[in-house]
Amino acid sequence: LASIDVDVSAIESGMSLTAKWRGKPVFIRNRTDEEIEEANSVPLDDLKDPIARNDNIAVEAEATDFNRSAGEGKENWIVMIGSCTHLGCVPLGQAGDFDGWFCPCHGSHYDTAGRIRRGPAPTNLAIPTFAFTSDTTIRIG
Ligand code: FES
Repeated sequence: LASIDVDVSAIESGMSLTAKWRGKPVFIRNRTDEEIEEANSVPLDDLKDPIARNDNIAVEAEATDFNRSAGEGKENWIVMIGSCTHLGCVPLGQAGDFDGWFCPCHGSHYDTAGRIRRGPAPTNLAIPTFAFTSDTTIRIG
């Protein structure tokens, strides 16, 4: 299946970009230190969905902030399918009760690691297969 290369060189800290992949939006965000800290401060027991939902790591991996991020040295980057896990609406960025994403369709609140924290969505926003092919390029798929 087709993969896409996304140039992220212009996405500074605190900025996001929405790419399109297989007909779906993919959120790419360069998170601030505060956003990472906020996500790291959440006890895993507080999570509605304790699974990372990250196609790049083990299927049973826990939903820590690190496991939701792009990994070692790239913890600031988060890449997620922009489709609410409730019924598929596109969540809004930097919104909701947890400063992450908010789905206005039925009120699902995701945190700064894209984890579901309140509302009807059952699981964290999905992380697709992706990799940095250079410091400024992400290949999705
Ligand atoms: Fe997002 Fe229902 S589709 S809350």
